[in-house]
Amino acid sequence: KIIVLDFGSQYNQLIARRIRELGVYSELHSHEMTLSEIRALGDVKGIIFSGGPNSVYDGDAFKCDPTIFDSGIPILGICYGMQMTHYMNGGKVKACDSKEYGRTEITIDTDSLIFKGLPKKQVVWMSHGDQVSELADGYQKDAYSETCIFAATSNPKNKIYTLQFHPEVRHSEYGSDILKNFVFEVCEAKDNWSMHDFIDIEVEKIRNQVGNDKVLLALSGGVDSSVVAALLHKAIGNQLYCMFIDHGLLRKGEAEGVMEMFGKEMNINLTKVDASKRFLSKLKGISDPEQKRKIIGNEFVYTFDEEVKKLVAGENIKWLAQGTLYTDVIESGTKTAQTIKSHHNVGGLPEDMQFQLIEPLNTLFKDEVRALGTELGLPESMVWRQPFPGPGLGIRVLGEITEEKLEIVRDSDLILREEIAKAGLERDIWQYFTCLPDIRSVGVMGDQRTYDYTVAVRAVTSIDGMTSDWAKIPYEVLNAISVRIVNEVAHVNRVVYDITSKPPSTIEWE
Ligand code: XMP
Repeated sequence: KIIVLDFGSQYNQLIARRIRELGVYSELHSHEMTLSEIRALGDVKGIIFSGGPNSVYDGDAFKCDPTIFDSGIPILGICYGMQMTHYMNGGKVKACDSKEYGRTEITIDTDSLIFKGLPKKQVVWMSHGDQVSELADGYQKDAYSETCIFAATSNPKNKIYTLQFHPEVRHSEYGSDILKNFVFEVCEAKDNWSMHDFIDIEVEKIRNQVGNDKVLLALSGGVDSSVVAALLHKAIGNQLYCMFIDHGLLRKGEAEGVMEMFGKEMNINLTKVDASKRFLSKLKGISDPEQKRKIIGNEFVYTFDEEVKKLVAGENIKWLAQGTLYTDVIESGTKTAQTIKSHHNVGGLPEDMQFQLIEPLNTLFKDEVRALGTELGLPESMVWRQPFPGPGLGIRVLGEITEEKLEIVRDSDLILREEIAKAGLERDIWQYFTCLPDIRSVGVMGDQRTYDYTVAVRAVTSIDGMTSDWAKIPYEVLNAISVRIVNEVAHVNRVVYDITSKPPSTIEWE
């Protein structure tokens, strides 16, 4: 394996991920890890020092165990990792005259192994305020840019390579090839790792961590919590207790689907809590979107709390599992979320709930979670499920929520899903749903005047939901959707298609 020592860069997990993409197992560890701890990990073929926000010459800046440099284990120092390598071995580091940020062209002027087979000029991604101004003994300059005299250096004898730029980000043109050279040419690692091994490693880890204890999971049926359920079930079988709260704001068939899949097929301990009455009565008369969200969030917490107490009575459940992804960890700004309080994954759990957390997906990115789900045998429909907001249909019925309006959204949404599937567009469209604006308009059906609801169809393409564009669904498909909705869903006489991007709109209407 290749280990990445964490000096605080937001890209650190991305480095590990790029190495895993090459088929070599990689994991992130604290920069405090000593050489003997590293050796105790077993077959470590290489060590990567990540970037970090510090200046290496500041008194309290992170440093590694200095004996690592003489260990004979190949090293790659990236950005801060490069500066630290030189600084700790007698070189000099100083602040750049102007900070360098973004795309830069570098020129490679040696035949360093790390650039083997790559063009002499290439575009890389820089992001630094300091740079090495004098090399440590035994190092050579491998590359330079207009503003950075040492864009890459090496000490081939000790197998130490350093880069001032970030090879792990996609903007570095040959970044993966550089990492590939480090992993295969310098470290001589073998590409024999796959998601299958990840499962074995995690299963072992979870078993050691929880022993005979019981673990609770709030299962929503979304991709992340579903994959956690499957993984934990594989690891600890019926020590896992899943709780599924039906807040009455789910899509058609959703609750049944979750119960069928996890309860029946996978035989997981699964408690369904039907809380729809409770949620709907709290939402009665409320039409402000923010207030609706708040009520749904709070009610979720109260319900969870109450139901857990019933479940926990006599059971003593010590652990709470969550489907936190690496991106959630970056966003919440903590390296590993320690307390439930600071965590918003389950919608903010009660403060007095004393669980210890298990977050087996917190080193993975969304597409890796999908690959893991597939490897665990979850069906395509589950693994490729589109995102669904926590407040559910509560924010897709605009204005006050009633059973009748929820039914219109459920029925029209199912038609939309069926037609998108029929047209084979499921993978092309990131998210698609119907919502119900709080308006009625005049229409004519048979010879009768109607005064009924308008259904809006929303379908967007996106990578991460942060920005999106409206999906260019073919007219014939839109036509089929519209005809079916007005014919099959009672009290709808008009269908409109939302053709705004985000920004300025948002994906959801509330
Ligand atoms: P917006 O509407 O903000 O949505 O463009 C971006 C993505 O986030 C989803 N979304 C939510 N997910 N809780 C969630 O778990 C929420 O309160 C929530 N609001 C929006 C939305 O479906 C889209 O995928």
